[in-house]
Amino acid sequence: MDLKQFVTIVPDWPKKGIIFKDITTLMDNGQAYKYATDQIVEYARDKKIDLVVGPEARGFIIGCPVAYALEVGFAPVRKEGKLPRETVKVEYGLEYGKDVLTIHKDAIKPGQRVLITDDLLATGGTIEATIKLVEELGGVVAGIAFLIELSDLDGRDKLNGYDVLTLMTY
Ligand code: PRP
Ligand code: MG
Repeated sequence: MDLKQFVTIVPDWPKKGIIFKDITTLMDNGQAYKYATDQIVEYARDKKIDLVVGPEARGFIIGCPVAYALEVGFAPVRKEGKLPRETVKVEYGLEYGKDVLTIHKDAIKPGQRVLITDDLLATGGTIEATIKLVEELGGVVAGIAFLIELSDLDGRDKLNGYDVLTLMTY
């Protein structure tokens, strides 16, 4: 299946010069969403994954169905102030802006093998921060899966040495 036909290109959003890749039109097609999920599940299947971790909000959309299929748990990475118990946190740079990501301190047990998921690899700031959180808690990043990679922004350079899957490249 050619997944790109389900992604809607939105020029100049959220600001001028950004060509936004809207995945909501992929998600609201049951077959496309299932196909994309299945591709990531297949990639992860032999990696002995103990837990899926994804950054809010779109990382949840990708990671939760994958966790369900793999029959493992899902731990959310959230923006600061959203998780109710003790967290670890990291500051990161975005394609447009800066923010802080957090994870519950007890979300990952040392040595657990983690699959990280997100919809998009742009500058790599979000995923780099997510990797830091996982590794700070002693998790092993066994794989990283995205729907989309924006190759111009060189996010890949931040992922040297990691096992990465992207389903679409722009
Ligand atoms: C978007 C996207 C990725 C990130 C990619 O998330 O969902 O998580 O940006 O950019 P980067 O590689 O330059 O870090 P955003 O922070 O807009 O939030 P959302 O997922 O809650 O919409
Ligand atoms: Mg995101």
